Amino acid sequence: MEIVTLENDLLRQKSEPVKDIDGEIQKTAEEMIEALHEGKGVGLAGPQVGLLKRIFVVHIEGDAPRVFINPSIIGTSQETIKYEEGCLSIPGVWADVIRPKSVRVQAWNEKGRPFNMEADGILARVILHEYDHLEGVLFIDRLSVPKRNRVLAKIEKRQKA
Ligand code: NI
Repeated sequence: MEIVTLENDLLRQKSEPVKDIDGEIQKTAEEMIEALHEGKGVGLAGPQVGLLKRIFVVHIEGDAPRVFINPSIIGTSQETIKYEEGCLSIPGVWADVIRPKSVRVQAWNEKGRPFNMEADGILARVILHEYDHLEGVLFIDRLSVPKRNRVLAKIEKRQKA
């Protein structure tokens, strides 16, 4: 699987629900986990591999890989936290992003089993980042305007180089 980058308009589109959790989507999830490992990332969403489907995979250190299909964010903490983020679709760019500290999410796994979980720390961070991808939102959109402009200038400079 190839990971698409910022120039690709797919990253700006809203993903469609997965209709059937079948062998095909199971295979997609496996391939996404492989691509995530190859890219040495912690999360990867459908649009990032050219698939406008509501699926993302997360694998953080000390945890097993997790697959989220048709996820809903049920709630987020009022408390927020600033943490450095990057994205496999925006290589080499890191910036502090403020997000809720914890999140409750409902989704289906690759076996079609529904689950509901509360996540905190890095896991919450990655879930919120990946969920944004399904809505066509990137972490750089969540930066202050001056900070975003600096990041975009950096990306542009690199593309010209
Ligand atoms: Ni990302």
